Amino acid sequence: MKTILVTGVAGFIGSNFVYHYLSNHADHCIIGLDKLTYAGNIENLSNLNDEYKQRFEFVRGDINDRNLVLDIFKTNSIDGIINFAAESHVDRSIHDPQIFLKTNILGTQVLLDIAKENWLINGNWKSEVKFLQVSTDEVYGSLGETGYFVESSQLDPHSPYSASKASADLFVKAYHDTFGMPINITRCSNNYGPYQFPEKLIPLIIYNATNHKSIPVYGDGKQVRDWLYVIDHCKAIDVVFNKATSGEIYNIGGHNEKENIEIVEHILDYLSEKLNDPGINTSLIKHVKDRLGHDRRYGIDASKIMNDLNWEPTIMFDEGINLTIDWYLNNTSWINHVISGEYQAFYDLNYSI
Ligand code: NAD
Ligand code: TYD
Repeated sequence: MKTILVTGVAGFIGSNFVYHYLSNHADHCIIGLDKLTYAGNIENLSNLNDEYKQRFEFVRGDINDRNLVLDIFKTNSIDGIINFAAESHVDRSIHDPQIFLKTNILGTQVLLDIAKENWLINGNWKSEVKFLQVSTDEVYGSLGETGYFVESSQLDPHSPYSASKASADLFVKAYHDTFGMPINITRCSNNYGPYQFPEKLIPLIIYNATNHKSIPVYGDGKQVRDWLYVIDHCKAIDVVFNKATSGEIYNIGGHNEKENIEIVEHILDYLSEKLNDPGINTSLIKHVKDRLGHDRRYGIDASKIMNDLNWEPTIMFDEGINLTIDWYLNNTSWINHVISGEYQAFYDLNYSI
């Protein structure tokens, strides 16, 4: 059995990754570390079946807690780290940047340091170990109307969030270049799918529209994001972690570029028809003040991961968005617990994994 440490497992992508990974690697165990910030919801992991539960252990804690991470290494033979844990919301980073430095940069460095302490033995790296940093296309900044980010594009982050992620990437690279640590970095475009916290665009539109609340569209709404269904991101991280050569950086994306306003209009149309509710219509759209420093367009060239590792997206946006809307419609108790704040009591009340 190989045991890996996965951080941020109670968040959106981390929780989807746990289901994906346990179902695809019967000989692997996961120790899942998560601080359970406002964005961490242990309820996201409540559908693990009995077999998965035997190969999954949850530890509540901060990646900055050196003693805790050391203890995890002492009590388990950890052969890999996949670091999802982060403060992830751009708008929050504009209001209060400091926590982004603490978690995204300093926390990553704590993980790197402890991995190095445990994996570098008498000058030699233990075999079959790896640190994978889950990063974002936002580190590249913003594109004009044409062109795509490639792995060698200049890092040009604009928000405190993306600046903290770019800094973390550089530290991960530094541990590779200086100490020879086996690492990979993945940089994915915007994800969507089940379990996404409804402060992010797509679940926010679904929740507000269903409840006839106005939908805040920043500026003209013509900003472009390159959307990827979360499971395709999880598959890409899996293949990079298990197959990629150390030191390589991979962009991940599926050429599903959409303007924000197109997404809003699609979700309104779909919900109105599905729920037979004429009250869900474009009159709910409210153009509000633009986000400060708002990146205009992201677009990913993912040909490197496609060529090197045979990864390709399996779910295109037209299919994935409807699957996602249906998931939120079918999981009203999940969304209601999040909105009411009840999910934060779930750990104490109901935690049994
Ligand atoms: P999320 O905000 O939904 O989840 C983050 C998780 O990290 C939460 O469970 C939170 O409790 C945990 N966490 C935060 N601070 C912590 C700390 N100090 N110690 C331990 N746990 C902590 O984020 P997400 O959307 O799932 O993103 C996961 C990762 O993927 C992030 O690193 C993000 O930068 C990256 N990413 C996200 C997207 C996207 O579209 N969501 C795209 C590309 C990359
Ligand atoms: P978001 O989901 O916050 O992801 P990111 O900023 O990391 O790309 O936002 C996606 C896009 O939607 C981004 O261009 C900002 C915009 N947006 C709105 O127009 N209104 C909103 O209420 C939110 C949350 C985002």
